[in-house]
Amino acid sequence: TEYETILVSRDGRVGVITLNRPKALNALNEQTMNDVVAAATELDRDPDIGAIILTGSEKAFAAGADIKEMATKSAAEMYRVDFFSPWDAFARLRTPKIAAVSGYALGGGCELAMMCDLIIAADTAKFGQPEINLGVIPGMGGTQRLIRAIGKSKAMDMILTARQMDAEEAERSGLVARVVPADQLLDTANDVARTIAGLSKPVAQHAVEAVNAAYETTLQQGVQYERRVFHGLFSTADQKEGMTAFSEKRKANFTHE
Ligand code: HXC
Repeated sequence: TEYETILVSRDGRVGVITLNRPKALNALNEQTMNDVVAAATELDRDPDIGAIILTGSEKAFAAGADIKEMATKSAAEMYRVDFFSPWDAFARLRTPKIAAVSGYALGGGCELAMMCDLIIAADTAKFGQPEINLGVIPGMGGTQRLIRAIGKSKAMDMILTARQMDAEEAERSGLVARVVPADQLLDTANDVARTIAGLSKPVAQHAVEAVNAAYETTLQQGVQYERRVFHGLFSTADQKEGMTAFSEKRKANFTHE
């Protein structure tokens, strides 16, 4: 499929979506949203894809939602079309999603990175929620996901003052999993994606669901959910293969079943 605002490529079992609106620093307009959701959904459903990388350019992962597109809309219109709601489908995909962030990840860009399962940042990355400067608040999950990622005090600092966080602070705060030199960003993201994609897809998907359940449940319910999933995985061929391979001192050959 050809897309207007993104590039999609495949390398073995890894799918890569590259935001590609360089003149607007990858600002996320409606077309970009529809393109990303469609491409990611197709990769998610593809049994030959085991991990998805979402990335931007060297200068910008994404500088936010498209301010020019939004500026004149009325509240009634925003409500009628439930503006931004299609992103929920992206966040819910279960194939592991890795955000590879270089440069600006601001507003919706930061929020889109947080919809991924983990973030790998170049040392040039800058995260921020500057919506308050525009007379609004984050609208793609920032007020909810940032506090869960970095805690209340830092989330309030960023959302109320619009200050940007560099990659080092973002790693220290738990927003990103790893920071690497900018010229190694895609190699590192690819290594991580290839590692995940070499394992059992359904098992990795269940892991994503179980970890994300921690956002929604009490500890007791979450532990119970984990245990039910854990028990259920004993019905997979991949569990039998994984444990047999260990006993036979060889590498597991997962069939994703
Ligand atoms: C639309 C954008 C944009 C955006 C950049 N551009 N960000 N267009 N929406 N979010 C456009 C600029 O208008 C400009 O177009 C071109 O991209 C290059 O940007 P410059 O500003 O010239 O680049 P630079 O001087 O390097 O500054 C980079 C920047 C700045 C610091 C990232 O662009 C910036 O502050 N952008 C906005 C960041 C922001 O507020 N994001 C949050 C958006 S709201 P032209 O045509 O002039 O060359 C959001 C959540 C919405 O995401 C939730 C509430 C509804």
